[in-house]
Amino acid sequence: MKNIYLNIYKPSMANIIRSKKNIENNNLVGIPTETVYGLAGNAYSDKAIKKIFKLKKRPNFNPLIIHFKDIHDIKKDIIINKEFKKLYKVFCPGPITFILKKKKNSKISKIATSGKKTVAIRVPSHKITRSLLSQIKVPLAAPSANVASRLSPTSAEDVVDEFKNKLKFILDGGKCKIGIESTIIDLTDKPKILRTGFITAKKIYKILGKKIFVEKKPKTIKSPGQLNLHYSPGIPVYVNKISPKRGGAFITFGKKFKNGSNYFNLSKKSNLKEAANNLYKTMRTIKKSKFKSISVCKIPNSGLGVAINDRLKKAANK
Ligand code: TXA
Ligand code: MG
Repeated sequence: MKNIYLNIYKPSMANIIRSKKNIENNNLVGIPTETVYGLAGNAYSDKAIKKIFKLKKRPNFNPLIIHFKDIHDIKKDIIINKEFKKLYKVFCPGPITFILKKKKNSKISKIATSGKKTVAIRVPSHKITRSLLSQIKVPLAAPSANVASRLSPTSAEDVVDEFKNKLKFILDGGKCKIGIESTIIDLTDKPKILRTGFITAKKIYKILGKKIFVEKKPKTIKSPGQLNLHYSPGIPVYVNKISPKRGGAFITFGKKFKNGSNYFNLSKKSNLKEAANNLYKTMRTIKKSKFKSISVCKIPNSGLGVAINDRLKKAANK
């Protein structure tokens, strides 16, 4: 099919070089990652970072994730530790973000980190973005490529949905394999998960061999991404329901549910990976189909189900 969007670019080497030029000129690029699409800019440039905050309408106290090619590059800006090295070896590149301390001489924009001494860092595995990272000499600041508090995009078309033609360049890396945001683990003190994701506390425990705390309700907003309204499709969401509301859609899981024009099954096989991958896409489809609300059935709260339920609960917050 012909690409009907003028700002979506196929991931050829020529377009990766164009992306590199955009980054070097402090312009923004929509990038694919294995989790969700990112809105990327030069992490060392205040000018680029200001553009990210503005386009996303993100409050300036909410810091961005900085994406690096590898540990070699990370060490230039970040103080790493033993726990990081262990987790990096097993899970990177991949869907995990680490909170670590910034080096005094780090070139990362202070606006990107909202003036904090800590930084969220990640090494994505998507090969297009890896190719871009190996072409450029700077790390990429990249929050999810959506307007603040909305659903993260899992395809290049979703990114257009968010920013229309205000974002001029999006690299098309196809559908995101995982479909929900990376796990965030704070390693500045006792290991603590700030955002659940594909890499579960159990998997991390197996590597570190010590208790992994999972932050439930932060007393102080350490990660402002945990602000309550988040992941919102723009219509009301109700969780743990057994049927849809009048004029609403129903998101189901497993084979016991009927098919209906307002029923959307995340995974007939009751597979949580498949469900996570379908979650945002399904909510976007429902919103576009003009349903008035989304009710969601109970989803098992184990493994990747913990991250799915976390996103749903936040989407349901009014
Ligand atoms: O999968 C992902 O992580 C995607 C892709 C594009 O990499 N990115 C993403 O970024 O989800 P964003 O900005 O939408 O979410 C980053 C979260 C925010 O909740 C932010 O508050 C938190 O990371 N964060 C950033 N820096 C932090 C810090 N120093 N301490 C605690 N939380 C931090
Ligand atoms: Mg986000």
